[in-house]
Amino acid sequence: MSNTAEIKFNGNTYELPVTTGSENEQAIDISKLRAESGLITLDPGFKNTGSTKSAITFLDGEQGILRYRGYSIEDLADKSSFLEVAYLLIYGELPDTETFTNFKNRISKHTFVHEDIKKILDGFPSKAHPMGVLSSLVCSLTAFYPGSLAPNRSEDDIDLSIIRLLAKLPTFTAWAYKNKIGHPVIYPDNKLDYCSNFMKMMYGLPGNEYEVDPVVASALDKLLILHADHEQNCSTSTVRIVGSSQASLYSSISAGINALWGPLHGGANQAVIEMLEAIKEDGGDTTKFLNKAKDKNDPFRLMGFGHRVYKNFDPRAKIIKKAADDVLAKLGVNDPVLDIAKGLEEAALKDDYFVERKLYPNVDFYSGIIYRAMGIPTEMFTVMFALGRLPGWIAQWKEMRDNNEPIGRPRQVYVGAEQRDYTDISKR
Ligand code: SDX
Repeated sequence: MSNTAEIKFNGNTYELPVTTGSENEQAIDISKLRAESGLITLDPGFKNTGSTKSAITFLDGEQGILRYRGYSIEDLADKSSFLEVAYLLIYGELPDTETFTNFKNRISKHTFVHEDIKKILDGFPSKAHPMGVLSSLVCSLTAFYPGSLAPNRSEDDIDLSIIRLLAKLPTFTAWAYKNKIGHPVIYPDNKLDYCSNFMKMMYGLPGNEYEVDPVVASALDKLLILHADHEQNCSTSTVRIVGSSQASLYSSISAGINALWGPLHGGANQAVIEMLEAIKEDGGDTTKFLNKAKDKNDPFRLMGFGHRVYKNFDPRAKIIKKAADDVLAKLGVNDPVLDIAKGLEEAALKDDYFVERKLYPNVDFYSGIIYRAMGIPTEMFTVMFALGRLPGWIAQWKEMRDNNEPIGRPRQVYVGAEQRDYTDISKR
């Protein structure tokens, strides 16, 4: 394979190096393009632009492949656990028994939050969307741990912030839910494993024993694994670029939560269920809604379908679709929107519009159906996505910092007014 590329411009030829990754992806390194030619590149949405070299997650959109640190998502979803995957993503290798036990013990010691954080939580009305509550509570950690703001912190200090965030996000997530429903918060129970502790904080009530359903806890652990990282998606790129200014881990992750909130990104899982509910309420005519999705004059899109990278099945969607059948059967839940979702998928995969554009179900298409069967309200779906994506965001932020990457500052092509003299229009 060639390791250089040429650009011919204005009678000149510029030779640029080509970088080849460990999975043979190739990229033209344009670091010197502007200095040598005066040219920059333009790529709205960065659809064809690499922002970094990363060793964390590999996607092959054409083949529908997803691997964390070289391990297939199928293997990890089937055999690993969310905290083991979190360790793998952040530190690069699967932990041995002693290391993993230490990692889990450290996390269990940091699940509580400062009591003053409840005052921040109490300041939010119940109608506040839990994503706004979550990003605010995460950013509030900069106030309770001001040392986390120092840019030149030791590796141990950074690691403590990582452990604190992994430990406290389930508490924040559950408390955002309690704020939503107007119930008192439940404190962490560190005798329980990560997912059981989260379920108890979500659904427990003061003074009542809460029995964790192992089916739900296991399904949740699998869902969190499937959401844990996804290379340079919108929210991860946000975490990296905020962190590149030497902003703290907490403020970088808070920014990532806000990026994930958008309905075109992590907010899609909430939008999918709202769409399926609307189709059900409208009589279940999937053809009508497929036609709306294809109509350029109709703003309606088939939420949970399409992906910037996957032009084949999103491997996560396949796993979640099967898990949806399993979990609903085990819980004895018969949710009509699951049949509507399957009907939509079947019809879309036969429809030229979707086939030509290689639009397949993505991670968000079926996940909400499981969350709903687990009793998680729709407005909490994207918060669940954030809970799963946290280790990926942390791993990517840490990699950017460990590699001393420069502050992110893209260029632009200016298309505004040319120079003009000031005249005080208000006095004309
Ligand atoms: C996530 O990046 C990641 O990895 C994200 C994620 C992760 O793990 O972090 O995987 C999580 O965000 C999944 C995506 C969740 N979003 C949705 O489900 C929202 C619905 N999907 C679309 O909005 C869209 O598919 C995107 C945003 C996901 C991708 O958009 P792109 O890559 O910018 O593609 P595009 O908008 O340019 O679409 C290409 C064509 C267009 O038609 P034409 O102009 O060529 O005629 O496909 C059409 C689009 O109109 N199209 C759709 C569609 N998605 C794309 N038409 C109808 N319904 C859709 N869902």
